[in-house]
Parts: sequence; structure tokens; C-alpha cells
Amino acid sequence: MEVFRIQGGRALNGEVRVNGAKNAALPLLAATLLTRETCVLRNVPDLSDVRFMIEILRHHGARVETPAPGVVSVTAESVHPHTPYELVKKMRASICLLGPLVGRLKMADIAQPGGCVIGTRPIDLHLKGLSRLGCTMTQHAGYITVDATNARGGRVFLGGPSGSTVTGTSNLVMAAVLTPGVTVIDCAACEPEVVDVCVMLSRMGAKIEGLGGPTLRITGVESLRGVTHEVVSDRIEAGTYAIAAAMSGGEIVVRGAKADHLGAFLDKFEEAGADFDILDADTLRVRGSAGRLKPVDITTLPHPSFPTDLQAQFTAMLTLAGGASTITERIYPNRFMHVPELNRMGANIAVEGPCAVIRGATALSGAPVMASDLRASAALILAGLVARGETWVQRIYHLDRGYERFDERLAALGASVERLRQSAMPADLRGE
Ligand code: EPU
Repeated sequence: MEVFRIQGGRALNGEVRVNGAKNAALPLLAATLLTRETCVLRNVPDLSDVRFMIEILRHHGARVETPAPGVVSVTAESVHPHTPYELVKKMRASICLLGPLVGRLKMADIAQPGGCVIGTRPIDLHLKGLSRLGCTMTQHAGYITVDATNARGGRVFLGGPSGSTVTGTSNLVMAAVLTPGVTVIDCAACEPEVVDVCVMLSRMGAKIEGLGGPTLRITGVESLRGVTHEVVSDRIEAGTYAIAAAMSGGEIVVRGAKADHLGAFLDKFEEAGADFDILDADTLRVRGSAGRLKPVDITTLPHPSFPTDLQAQFTAMLTLAGGASTITERIYPNRFMHVPELNRMGANIAVEGPCAVIRGATALSGAPVMASDLRASAALILAGLVARGETWVQRIYHLDRGYERFDERLAALGASVERLRQSAMPADLRGE
């Protein structure tokens, strides 16, 4: 296992280009199973989750090549329907195979994912959607078997207790594009990553109306063709670098930061006193703003509201703001695993149910901390960048699921971040 050692207090300066979005790349890779023809994805981030999705595609019989950095070519002449638990338990997002298997094969046999550290993460809405299409489902020994032989499309409302479902919407669209008849999805997720999936499918020959809106109308077609598609850039990675810049001194230009996809984030970033300019539709310039940060109140909700995937990082930033901020987490009410670790670094954050109150402007000091999920890892690293002294972040394999070479890219901006083997960490600092 590897750890990060961070020496806090360095200003960040320079330019960083964000990669393709993990949460688009995963369903886009799954969508390549919908055609026998070759699909080429560009701007694919080099992440452990992406490498794992490639392994799953190979397991399903696809030929996958990576001819150049960021390029993945998939040819799925034949596909088989069984996705075993060994694969699904390693990555929940494997569930986005469900839609393509149903669309292509008219059947799927996939292990049901469990919860994870951020919540219970049910898939009831995915299954409801498939049943409205006319699929029959049986559950047995932790697996879901779907028979879509008689599926003819239908109307489905995909809203749940926290709004729509991101992967559920992509799954249902991927199933519906090759299902005869018309499918209407009400309360479809509007996240840019879902739109990117719809854009690629449309370019493959799918008939989808309403892209980007809450109602999608899909008319099934007989087959789809191959495509070359560039993965949309990662708004969460962009927001993370923007926060890193605001927390540290210096000035960073973040390329690939699409202001159109970051509306709610930029609104709160501005309200919090972050000093930034939108240079063009794809570029932000952010200056160190630590001394000027103000408290804000944030509620996470589905897009276009404030994204849960930037909540932990924003929390880290608000520990520097003078006054009390509140965070209300409406997507994953327990997604506060970063809080006890930030408190160990000197933050003053109290969690009560789905709300956190951050009393800011406490001096952060370096400490050994434990990452518990992807975005929590990023939050701890951001705190480490501005903490006095040395921070050791353990379990950074969570980080590598969603941030490509975060250590190297922060170091290129001037941060002191090293990736070391766990054995290099003094034994008395290790938490395990
Ligand atoms: N939900 C249900 N029933 C369902 C599905 C979801 O009640 O059938 C609930 C969930 O419990 C949650 C809410 O609906 O409260 C939203 O869940 P959603 O299905 O939208 O989440 P997801 O598709 O499983 C994706 C991202 C997550 C991101 C969420 C929310 C991928 C691969 N994952 O998950 O990304 O947090 O949307 O935006 O796209 C991350 O990148 O760190 C990450 C966790």
C-alpha cells in the first residue's frame, strides 16, 4: 500500500488540465457493448476504476486496446451476459453494465452491488425502470437476472427520495435505445456525464430527444454503429483544483473547467470569497484566497445544484473561512467520513444527521489521517496542503480511483506531495 506525505504551506502556481470525467468514462465504456462495431473513446482518464472497467469489458468478451495514452478502443463482436460478484464487489459502478447487456442481449445476469462507505446505494430505481420497459426480473443468490425478450418500452418516473439517479438514468437509456417502441423517462438525471452518454449514443444511431433535460424520449432502433467520442471533462476534478488554488497562495489556471457544468459550485465559490475569473468557456483562473474566505451554507442536490462529489473538498476549504458554515448533504446523508479526520488536523466541524457545521479559521496542523473514500481522500490532501507541518494520508488507493496522478500534478504546481510506500511511514504514525 502507498501513502502520501505532504508538507503544508507551499503556494500553488501554474496550469493544470483536467482529464475526462470518470463518471462519464465508466458508462461510456459500458455503452460500447451496445454495438458489434469498434468504438474509440478519447480523453479517457488513467484511473484504477477505468482500468477495472476495461477488465470487465474483456470478461464480457470485448476486445479492448489502448493504442495511445487516453485512447481506448473496444470491439464487442459477441458479448456474454454474466457479470460475477467478484467484479461487481470491487467497483459498484459495474452496475452500469446492466443497461447495455439488456439492450444488446435482451438479457443480463449481474451480481447486485452492496452499499459502500458513503451510503446504502440502492438500485431499486434501475430495476423499476427496466420493469416499466417490459423486462421481467428475478433475484437469486445475490444476482439479478433480467429477461427483456418482451420489452416494448414504456413511461417511467425515475425520481427517488433524493431526486433522480445518475447511473440509473444512463442504464435505462442504454437499455431503451435498442428496445422496440418508445420509452419516456421523467425525472431523468441531468448531470453532464449522463448527457455525454446520450450524446455518444445518439452519434451511434440512437434516437434520444430531450438531452440535458429532465424528460428523455427514446425511440428504440435495431442496431447501433461504432463511434469515436471524446469523454467530457471532469467537473469534479476541475472543482477540486480550483479549491486547491483558493486554499493555497499563488494562482492556478485550470484548463478543461467548463463553467457551464460548474454553475452551483462557482456560485458558492464566489459567495465564499474565492478570487477567480472565468477566462473562457473551458478555463478558470483561481488565486489564493485563504485570508478572505467567508462562511457559506450549502445543500447538495442533483445537478444543476451543488454536487455531492465536491462536498468534502468544499468542507476542507470552509475550515479556513472565518465564521460558521453549514453543509446539508441530501444525496448521501452519511457522507461525512472526512470530518473526524479533518478535526484531527485542527478543524472544528460538528455533524448532526445529514448536516455539518464548520466553525472556520482554526489553524490546521499536519497529522496522520486515513482516507475513507475517493472525495474524502481529496479533502484530506487539500487540508494537508495548507496545514502547518507534515500530513500523512493513508489508503490513497481510494484517491487513485478518481484522480489521475494527483500527487504529480500537485507537485508540478509547487506542492510538496510525495507518494511513498506505507513502510516509509514512521510506525508510530500508522493507523493500522
Ligand atoms: N438512489 C435510490 N435508488 C436507486 C438509485 C439511487 O434511492 O435505485 C438514491 C441514492 O441512494 C442516492 C441518490 O439516489 O441518495 C443518488 O444516487 P445515484 O444513483 O444518482 O448515484 P450513482 O449513480 O450510484 C453517481 C456517481 C457518484 C455520485 C452520484 C451522485 C458514478 C459512477 N457515480 O453514483 O460518484 O456521487 O452519482 O451524483 O457516476 C464519486 O465520483 O465520488 C461518486 C460517488
